[in-house]
Amino acid sequence: MHKDLKNLWLPYTQMKGLNSILKAQKTSSSKIFLDNGKSLIDGISSWWTACHGYNNKHIRKKIISQLNLMPHVMFGGLVHDQAVLLSKRLSKLLNDKLEKVFFTDSGSVSVEVALKIAIQYWLNKGNDKKNKFIFFKNGYHGDTSGTMAICDPEEGMHKLFKNYLRKNYMLNIPETEKDRNKFVNFVDKYNDKVAGVIIEPLVQGAGGMKFNSPSTLEFIYKVIKKYKLLLIYDEVATGFFRTGSMFAYQQTNSSPDILCIGKALTGGTLSLAATISTEKVFAAFLSSKKNKELMHGPTYMANPLACSAANASLDLFEKVNYKKKIKIIEKIFQKELEKFREFTFVKQVRAKGAIGVIEFFNLSKNNIIWLREEFIKKNIWVRPLKNIIYFMPPFIINKNELNHLLESTYKILSKWKKNNEK
Ligand SMILES: Cc1ncc(COP(=O)(O)O)c(C=O)c1O
Repeated sequence: MHKDLKNLWLPYTQMKGLNSILKAQKTSSSKIFLDNGKSLIDGISSWWTACHGYNNKHIRKKIISQLNLMPHVMFGGLVHDQAVLLSKRLSKLLNDKLEKVFFTDSGSVSVEVALKIAIQYWLNKGNDKKNKFIFFKNGYHGDTSGTMAICDPEEGMHKLFKNYLRKNYMLNIPETEKDRNKFVNFVDKYNDKVAGVIIEPLVQGAGGMKFNSPSTLEFIYKVIKKYKLLLIYDEVATGFFRTGSMFAYQQTNSSPDILCIGKALTGGTLSLAATISTEKVFAAFLSSKKNKELMHGPTYMANPLACSAANASLDLFEKVNYKKKIKIIEKIFQKELEKFREFTFVKQVRAKGAIGVIEFFNLSKNNIIWLREEFIKKNIWVRPLKNIIYFMPPFIINKNELNHLLESTYKILSKWKKNNEK
């Protein structure tokens, strides 16, 4: 085993036989620099976080000044300026009803908190029967126990744990007439047991970058409203302009009771997430009785450094015309990805906002290993997932870099085609 790995355990990685590993030494703009002198164009923004690119000057400056003042203070019984400011700015960016911000430290925990809020909302209203959730095929909401129980067990990477997890209800996203009828009937039959419905609006990320439409979200919204079920939008991946608007749901005539955000919240610098609720949800927790307050509180909640990074990131969203930049990226994806349809092993291509996807009929483990190696040879950091190659570059990626990403991928797939013809 490589000496650097002697005491490390990597995520979703078979450590047996892992004899080499890439080591990142520094980052800048769209690039990751390795210790072997190579630099890679990051096509996936460090797991979809580094939306402004790496080492943004403004964010760094704000983190440093906060570091000198106060790197951390507990959030129980105390608040601080960065969290107060960030909560106000976030609620201003959302629809006027989403206004109560609960900070956490990762996307998974922001979803865990959303689930707990939904359950406790009903408990506080005197209903202890509503303790299940409706979630959707291909959905992914995190790696913790509560969130694994609302991930697609096959596509969400957690099938090993199925005997450990709580049972919830998985349905197809109601896009077709048939699935819409099923959805309506299901909600009608089981709404007594259901606290809420959770979905990643417009794009299901880790489940395979599958797109869903505004009209489908509006349909779900209308159906469940009749039964007063809570709607949870998980925008951990789609938030902060990835799909072309600040939040994906803002492209629809629907709005959640609870919203989860994370990943790009700090511009890819520090770990911070949030669960944001409407006044209606929050009101169920106001009481003079015992145990009605929200029962959750992470130790590093609302870390001041992370909040200052998030405030700085929001400064950039105010200053830079990202809408225009993302439109350009989307147009390039829409045009250039079409070429990939000529490969018989490519099933589909699609693009939305700053997301480009090439879907294969099938990608084996060995195919993925081969592709990853080829990308590195071309100085690209892209990580194929399931049966897709996807791109989620930093919004500041320049045209040359984006072209390099797409042209190199085309060359790699041409090589694959040739190898298969031999
Ligand atoms: C939609 C969605 N929700 C939740 C999570 C979990 O976030 P984290 O990895 O920060 O715990 C992810 C991570 O990919 C995600 O894509």
